[in-house]
This record gives sequence, structure tokens and C-alpha cells, in this order.
Amino acid sequence: MAATFYFDLDKMRWFALRIGVIGTGYVGLVYGAVMADFGHYVTCMDKDEQKIGQLKLGNSTIYEPGLPPILQYGLSTGNLYFTTSLEECVKYSDMIVIAIGTPTGPDGNADVSDVMTVAEEIGTFMLDNKLVVCKSTVPIGTSRKMLEIIEQQLQARNVGYQIEVACNPEFLRQGKAVEDCLSPSRVIIGTETQHAREVLQDIYRMYDQEKIPFLYTGYETAELIKYASNSFLAVKISFVNELAWLSETAGANIQDVVMGMGLDARISPTFLEAGAGYGGSCFPKDTRALVETGAKYNAQLHIVEAAIAANETQKTRMVQKIIDTLSSHHDLSCLTIGVLGLSFKPETDDIRSAPSYDIIKGLLDQGLTVKVYCPEGMRQAKLTWTEINERIFYCDSEAECADQADALVLITEWGQFRNLEWTKILATMHNNYLFDLRNMFTRENSVTELFHYYAVGVGV
Ligand code: UGA
Repeated sequence: MAATFYFDLDKMRWFALRIGVIGTGYVGLVYGAVMADFGHYVTCMDKDEQKIGQLKLGNSTIYEPGLPPILQYGLSTGNLYFTTSLEECVKYSDMIVIAIGTPTGPDGNADVSDVMTVAEEIGTFMLDNKLVVCKSTVPIGTSRKMLEIIEQQLQARNVGYQIEVACNPEFLRQGKAVEDCLSPSRVIIGTETQHAREVLQDIYRMYDQEKIPFLYTGYETAELIKYASNSFLAVKISFVNELAWLSETAGANIQDVVMGMGLDARISPTFLEAGAGYGGSCFPKDTRALVETGAKYNAQLHIVEAAIAANETQKTRMVQKIIDTLSSHHDLSCLTIGVLGLSFKPETDDIRSAPSYDIIKGLLDQGLTVKVYCPEGMRQAKLTWTEINERIFYCDSEAECADQADALVLITEWGQFRNLEWTKILATMHNNYLFDLRNMFTRENSVTELFHYYAVGVGV
């Protein structure tokens, strides 16, 4: 397999860019495809044979807007290659990127055992010098530990290859992953050698044109930047959700409160939308892991702890709001709810830690009948929601979900819900409640006036 060579005008030298990506989840797959699109030669590895089989055919294994064309283009140019062999991936790459999951372990810490296993395997298979880049979200100390493990492996093999490790956290958002990877807000590189810095600078030199800021730090700082960023965003959401509660009971309007706050440039209204609570594979996991890291280093992170608790309260409060509203006029056991949106946010098929699960479970536990519809989230829900699947009805459309329902609960703000013919939807319903848990229609009287309408944080 030949490497692709580039002539770097600034540095006046040829540079071979062969990147191996281990893990083809939301981060690894998008990153690999984008790097191949930039002209790098990328080998993506995953141990899941079925997944690799699909990817080799150019079929994206996740729903991510903009991904299929660059995936197929990479395959057609030969810049993107898929394999299940870690040995092959290591052998044909100068830089190996680790992009595998670090799920929450039983104690709340991020479980980095898969990352460590991969580090050990890299040490076993490498046949020349390598730069290992960690993109997985990993707790403080992991990069240093990875370096140690690989070095031990090389010592055991009695070979003197040079190994360098860099921590290069990923900040892409699902649903906008391709866009974010093409044009990230910043590039953080935690490393301890000048050479590793230079290689990464070369690899990412296409970002120079867009003047994307680079920040070079040590390992610990880079690792913490990722957790600090996600936790801060989670704090923002929990803050606004608590104020939404207060707004609702005190007769204020959270959307105007946020607008009023956001006019102060130091605050800004972005990422301050009240809703059903945050979900996904990152915020719930990373906030917990950061609290555990704090405990390990004797730093109590009260604010992050409060954000986690507030998020749980928010989901419970949503269920309570629905139950209280409906039970004051109806016998709950006779009611049917139509849930719109299961994915943890729009434009993704990911349902990991989605608020929809807790809310649906809460409604089922109160004896309500639940029908659901989501544009992309149902495939995963059918596979993983084993505890509640027998009790919910999956529908093929919004109309089927609303048919004979007493109330609609909108949990994820998919754009297509905005264009529904609400009068027709209403005509098939048994009762006319709409719980808009993402405040999609607060400013659309033509919708709100049709229903007994509830929005998060909008007091009467
Ligand atoms: C998040 C970060 O935004 C990314 O920068 C980071 O790279 C990623 O985690 C990660 O660590 O991999 P993501 O989980 O894809 O990205 O989703 P977000 O768009 O951040 O939304 C997270 C949750 O917050 C969603 O449930 C969303 O509905 C909720 N949210 C977001 C709100 O409730 N209100 C808002 O104003 C914004």
C-alpha cells in the first residue's frame, strides 16, 4: 500500500501523511472520512466485522448529514480504506488516532480499558516509529499512561522504535459532525515533544487557511479542556432549565429571559435553550467522569454535581408536568400519548442517554399508553430499549403516532415537525394536548391555539 505524498511549500519538504484511525464510531468515522477528503491516506479500523463490511461498500453505519458523499468519495479515490485488522492499521500508518469509546464505568469514572488495550496492541505491532494521537475523551493521566504502556511493550520486545503520544480532543457535535470536523472551533494539542507538534501541524495545515486557532499544551491540560468544555455546556443547560422552572411558576417567560441575558455579550444567548434535559453519549458521561476525577484529586466540583442533579430533576419534572396536567381532567389509564422524537437531539440516530427514554418510562409507569415516532432514532431504540419495548408502539409517521392519541409530547426538535399539517393531525386525535418540551412552537399561534399547549419555562 503506497503512501500519498504532499509537498509542503512552507517547509519546503515532502511529507507522507498516512493516518490510521482506530474505532469507527461517530468521531472516528467522521474524522477518518474528513481526513481522507483533505487528501490524507487513511486506514480506518474497527473490530466489528459487520460494520467494516458495510463501510467498505460505502454504506454509512450512522446517520450523520454530509457523511455518505465524503465516505464514498474517499473509497473511490483510494484515500480511505477499512479493515478489521489492528495490525494492518498500525503497519500502514505513521500517525495512529485512537477514537474508541470511553463509557461510564460502574463507579462513574470513564472506562479507559479499551484505550489501554489498544495502546498495548500498538506496542505489539509497531515496526517503525509512530505518533499515537488520542481523540477519545479520556480522564487526566490517560495519555501519560498510554505512553508508558506502549514503551513497556517495546521494551518487552527489545526494539528501539520511537513512540510519541499526543492528546488531541475532538469537539465535533453529532448531527453537525462533518461541518465541525471540516472547520473546528479550535485545535487542542497536548504533547511533550516538538516533533509531535510539527507532525500534527502538518497534518492539520488545511485549517490554517480558515485561521482556526491552535493551542499547544501538556497532556493533563488537553485532557481537562475536553471535560471542562462539555461540563461547562452542561452547566449552561441545567442553569437555564432551572430558571425555566422558576419562570413557569412565577409567570415569566424563559425565552425572553434568555434573550435579555444574552444581549450582554459576556453571556450570549447560544446554548441556553430550555428543554427536556441534555442527553447523548457525551454530557451525561463526561460530567460524571469530571466529578470523579475531581474526587480523585481532592477537588469537589459542586457546580458540575449540581448540573447533573438538575438534569435528572428536569426529566422528572417533565413527566410530572404531563401527569399533573392530564390527571386533573382524565383517568390516566385510559389515555394514549404520542411521543415525537426519540434521538437525544435532531439530525442524529443516537439515542444514548436520550431524555426520551426516562420520560417515556415515567409515562408508562403511570399507566399511560405510549406510541412513538422519530425520523431516525427508532432503529436504535428497537434494538436497545429492551426494558420498555414491549410496552410501546412504534409508528411509521407523525400522523400514525397522533392518531387517536390524547396528547402529543414533542421531545426532540426535528425540523420536519415544524412543517406538519397540525389541523389534520388534530382532527385524528382523541384529545388536544401538546407538550412542547423543546419550545418549538412558542411563537406560532397557529399551532398553539389549536391545543392545550405547554412550553418549557413559559409561565401563564
Ligand atoms: C457535545 C459537545 O457540544 C461537542 O462539542 C463535543 O465534541 C461532544 O459533546 C463530544 O464530547 O463528543 P453532542 O453531544 O453531539 O456534542 O450534542 P450537543 O449539541 O452539545 O447537545 C447535547 C445535549 O444538550 C442535547 O441533548 C441537546 O438537546 C441539549 N441542549 C443543547 C439543550 O438542551 N439546550 C441547548 O441550548 C443546547
